[in-house]
Order: sequence, then structure tokens, then C-alpha cells
Amino acid sequence: MSAPAPARTGAARVLARCDELAAVSASPHGIERTHLTPEHARADELAAGWMGRAGLGTRRDAAGNLWGRLEGREPGLPALVLGSHLDTVADAGRYDGVLGVLSAVEVAERLRGRAGQLPFALEVVAFSDEEGTRFATALTGSRAVAGQWDEDWWERADADGVTVREAALAFGLEPARVGEAARRPEELVGYLELHIEQGPHLEAADRALGVVTSIAGARRFTGRVTGEARHAGGTPYPRRRDALVAAAEVVLAVERLAVELGGIATVGRLQAFPGGVNVVPGLVELTLDVRAEHDALRDELVERIARHGERTCRARGTAFELVETHAAPGVTCEPALSASIAAGIAAATGDAAPPRLWSRAGHDAMALAAITPVAMLFVRCEDGISHAPGEAVTAADVAAGVDALEAAVLDVAARRAAPPRP
Ligand code: GLV
Ligand code: MN
Ligand code: MN
Repeated sequence: MSAPAPARTGAARVLARCDELAAVSASPHGIERTHLTPEHARADELAAGWMGRAGLGTRRDAAGNLWGRLEGREPGLPALVLGSHLDTVADAGRYDGVLGVLSAVEVAERLRGRAGQLPFALEVVAFSDEEGTRFATALTGSRAVAGQWDEDWWERADADGVTVREAALAFGLEPARVGEAARRPEELVGYLELHIEQGPHLEAADRALGVVTSIAGARRFTGRVTGEARHAGGTPYPRRRDALVAAAEVVLAVERLAVELGGIATVGRLQAFPGGVNVVPGLVELTLDVRAEHDALRDELVERIARHGERTCRARGTAFELVETHAAPGVTCEPALSASIAAGIAAATGDAAPPRLWSRAGHDAMALAAITPVAMLFVRCEDGISHAPGEAVTAADVAAGVDALEAAVLDVAARRAAPPRP
């Protein structure tokens, strides 16, 4: 990374708030804040306080997302929405999602005095469930806003058997009203999301900020390899139907096929049962996450993994089964809003041709794209580390990001205020 520079006004506050949120965790050993938990409520309470201090009127929607709103030059105008998410993976870093929400609050606070000149309302949203950590279903908060709530999600259960419905009720939400979280396209001007890159490309290019061109849509699965649990000493190799050895072959094939096809596929969790030191594993449960720049390539990779997995497992006397738990189509960022992001970066950093890159990670923007134009701004992160405690950003990069987001909002305003081109 380039040499650290002193934080400019705003960046210091954003980073201090990221630290404050990092302390809101279900785990004493790291950061874990998941959907509809006491930590979700506490994080929202802090964020709502900061939104309120920035002059935003706040509300929680029926899906558990937190919103703040600053009226524009007249009340009731369609809104330009800025935001990201406050939920995390297990043992998370402190910037994924959080940096986007807190930068948006900072921008709203800066523009508060000028809101009366904006040709739109400015809204900030903290989405509730981008990661899908607790219920193995991602983007449920932003999908509810996009009017794409799936009724099947209510019965999804967490590791303790608590369903989304039970957790929502305990959180104070009314499941029957979830449809009220949906926003209509005519209420919105667009959605801008600032996010850490979660990869190494900006750092390699020695640039603080980049414009996101498109967002890869992930497909996620739970997989099972079923064999037969038997005595580890007494069962000769020809008689074994070892689910873990078969699963190990599948895991290696997942990586090989992804590299061959130019996609990305990851087995993130693998658990062997019954898990005895002296028992041949009879069952393995695993997760699979598959992505690619284009959906067609991703889907081909899924097919190849499924076919190869079945063959490999059959050859070992075991059965392989994949059940899809999440699918999001890839999304192209809208050119006009992306031009405003580029203009914002140029205004903030002098970089007239900022890097343009596609997002390998999923974001709430991909759900919002179903109802409004979306664009994204990436901030460099150290060594591309994310979804891990080592996530790091510099104060100088955050300052540039907040400046660029503010300038992008003003660019959108200027474009809307300008008479249409003949
Ligand atoms: C979200 O962080 C993802 O898994 O892409
Ligand atoms: Mn994430
Ligand atoms: Mn994120």
C-alpha cells in the first residue's frame, strides 16, 4: 500500500464509527453480526443515532433494513439512495458493508446544508442481511426492498433451528407486512454503493478508488456426500464407502474445474459425520459458492461440478447431491450513474481515468438493480483481504472515497438539473 496519509475530516469519524460497530459482535473472539440478532438491533441503534445526528429522519422497514432520509428541494421527491449492509460473515473484518453505510451517512451530513437545492431526496440505507450468514440465504433485506421477497425464506432455519419467521417475530417485525418493505421504481432516482474492493486489483494498480462495471451473481448450494459409516479398523478398503475421501476428491475437482473454465468456485464448509476418530465417515455436508463474470459461464461451471461430483462419488460407492440455496443474476452497473461515480473520483482524486473493474463479490446493489439504476465505487483494501479479520483500509483512501461519493451525488444532481440534450 502507499504510505499512510493523515485522515481528512470525515474519514476519521467514519473509521472511528467502523471501530465502534466492530465491538458489536456475538463473538468475544471476533466480529460476527448476523440477521435478526441482538447485535443487528444494537448496530442499527448506533447507525440510527448517527443518521439522526446527520439530520436524517430514520425508520426501520418491514424486512429489518434501516433507512434515513433527507428531503430535497421539496418534500416527497424521488430519492437517490446511498448505502450498503451492516451484517457480517463469521469472524469478519470491520469494513465490508459497514464502510459503505458510514460513508453514506458522512456524505448526507456534508450535504445537509445544501439539501434544499437537491433535485431529489437523499436516503441512506443499512441493509440487514447481505451475507446470508445466519440463514444461508443472501441479500434478503435488499431483495425485500426490490419486491422480491421469497415466501419460502420464512421457514429457513439457523444452526439452532430458529426459523426466519421466529427470528423476525422476536425482532419485532411482522412477517405478514414484509411486502411493505418494497420500494416502487418511481420513488427512486438510483442507488450508489461504496464498498471495499475485497480483492487485490486496485492495490496492484496503485489506485485508491475504482468504478465497478458489473457485479457477478453467485449461486450457492449445500451438498451432501452419502456413504456408509463403519469401523475404521475392521472395514477393508474395497468395502469402504468413505464419504470424506469422496468429498475430498470433489473439493479438488471444484478448484480445478473453476480454473479451467475461468470462473470461481469455493467449498467454504465441509463437515464429516459421525466424526469419530475410529469411524469411516458415512456422510459429508459441504457448501459450494460459484461465480463468474458472466452468468452463462457460471452456470456451465455449476453443471460441470455437478456432473463431475456425481461421477466421482459414484465411483467410490457414494452418492452426491447439491441443493441450491441462493442464486442471484449478475448485474451491469448503469452507465450514466457510473459516469457520475467516475466524475466523483476525478473530482476527489484528480484521477481522470479511474480503473474500471467487475466485482467478484456480491452486493446489495445487485438486488436493487431490479427496481432502479445502480452504480458502485470500490475503495482499495490492503492485500485484497476481506471476509477475514485482516480487512484494512487507509484513512487517506477512505477520505478520498467519501469525497468521491459526495461529488458523485452532486454530479447526479447536476445532470438531473441540466436541461435534456437536444
Ligand atoms: C458477499 O460478500 C459475497 O459473498 O459476495
Ligand atoms: Mn461480504
Ligand atoms: Mn459486502
